[in-house]
Amino acid sequence: MSFEEMWAALLPVGRDGGSGGYHRFAWTPPELECRDWFLGEARRRGLDVEHDGNGNLFAWWNPAGAQGPAVVTGSHLDSVPGGGAFDGPLGVVSALAAIDLLRDEGFRPGRPVGVAVFAEEEGARFGVACLGSRLLTGAIDPERARGLRDADGLSFAEVVAAHGLDERQPVGPDEGLLARIGCFVELHVEQGRALDGPVGVASAIIPHGRWRMRFTGEGDHAGTTGLSDRRDPMLPFAHAVLAARDSAARHDGVATVGKVGVVPGGVNAIPSSVTAWLDARGPTDDAVRRTVGETVEAARRAAVEHGVDVEVTEESYSAVVAFDHSLRDRIATTLGGVPVLPTGAGHDAGILSARVPAAMLFVRNPTGVSHAPAEHAEIGDCLAGVEALASVLKNLTGG
Ligand code: GLV
Ligand code: MN
Ligand code: MN
Ligand code: MN
Repeated sequence: MSFEEMWAALLPVGRDGGSGGYHRFAWTPPELECRDWFLGEARRRGLDVEHDGNGNLFAWWNPAGAQGPAVVTGSHLDSVPGGGAFDGPLGVVSALAAIDLLRDEGFRPGRPVGVAVFAEEEGARFGVACLGSRLLTGAIDPERARGLRDADGLSFAEVVAAHGLDERQPVGPDEGLLARIGCFVELHVEQGRALDGPVGVASAIIPHGRWRMRFTGEGDHAGTTGLSDRRDPMLPFAHAVLAARDSAARHDGVATVGKVGVVPGGVNAIPSSVTAWLDARGPTDDAVRRTVGETVEAARRAAVEHGVDVEVTEESYSAVVAFDHSLRDRIATTLGGVPVLPTGAGHDAGILSARVPAAMLFVRNPTGVSHAPAEHAEIGDCLAGVEALASVLKNLTGG
């Protein structure tokens, strides 16, 4: 099946007919349909399918004569709410298409080739970004992961058990599997406005993290409660949103509050609580820490002023990632001197880089928009990405 046919098969899955945005949260029906599609495509190619103990999928091309640690590629199939079509699936479809290209030309890899599909990369369901790759590499305690809850109160452990996975899952760091991964190369749609040319190579991922801020006040009547009698959690929340933007600007970073829960959520009721997620990123770990510190400080000051309690928890953090220099240079040379650029987006490749040499290929995004329906890549650039990935796999597996 060609790239175009695989892409067409995935395109309708989890797509909102109105907005065109995708809703593929981990282990919800659309994401499960994407996983099944992947398993079917892998089996049809005779790849060896493996479910690891952390919700991730692997498919191995291990022809006679291939030996040593594998060159692994792939990405994820889950999405943010209302996300684009390319973030994640482009890397998975391109991986299968690249293997097809190599086989069609009769290439025999000297090392195995793996295709990975990492679970809950976006953290849209359980809150922690790159959950599957964090578990695999030991970047999160599996006990903590088991207890993470989705919006319906279901725990990660309950959800994986409901899908027939071993009830001990997630198992956490898997040294045996990591030892089989010689390096990881993730192909991904570019998510900003920085790539000039069809394909580029990543140099770094800027530090970023997520914090949950919970403001607790007192629910009451919107008409009968005077302003001075209120403990309204919406007010310190509003202070925090504005402080985050000001602080991020002072530290050359960015800050976003994109997910908010208001309880009880009545037009004519003062809220009893507001829970908001802060996403902060910046050029250095220090810049991000300062942005978050100043935001929390502003939230606490306003909370005191308004008689509200505030509790802040760090949900996930990814320190600065500098991708393996020799792998990056080898890939850039193989591709004939393509642009090398950093990114403000998080990726499983960044998490993997703590344990194995990792690299990324980016495919141009003409809209520069991501995590939204306008995210795009032209078919010609996608096919250039597949060819680039195939030549990288060929070079790294030294057939
Ligand atoms: C992942 O896409 C992220 O950067 O949030
Ligand atoms: Mn994303
Ligand atoms: Mn992604
Ligand atoms: Mn105020």
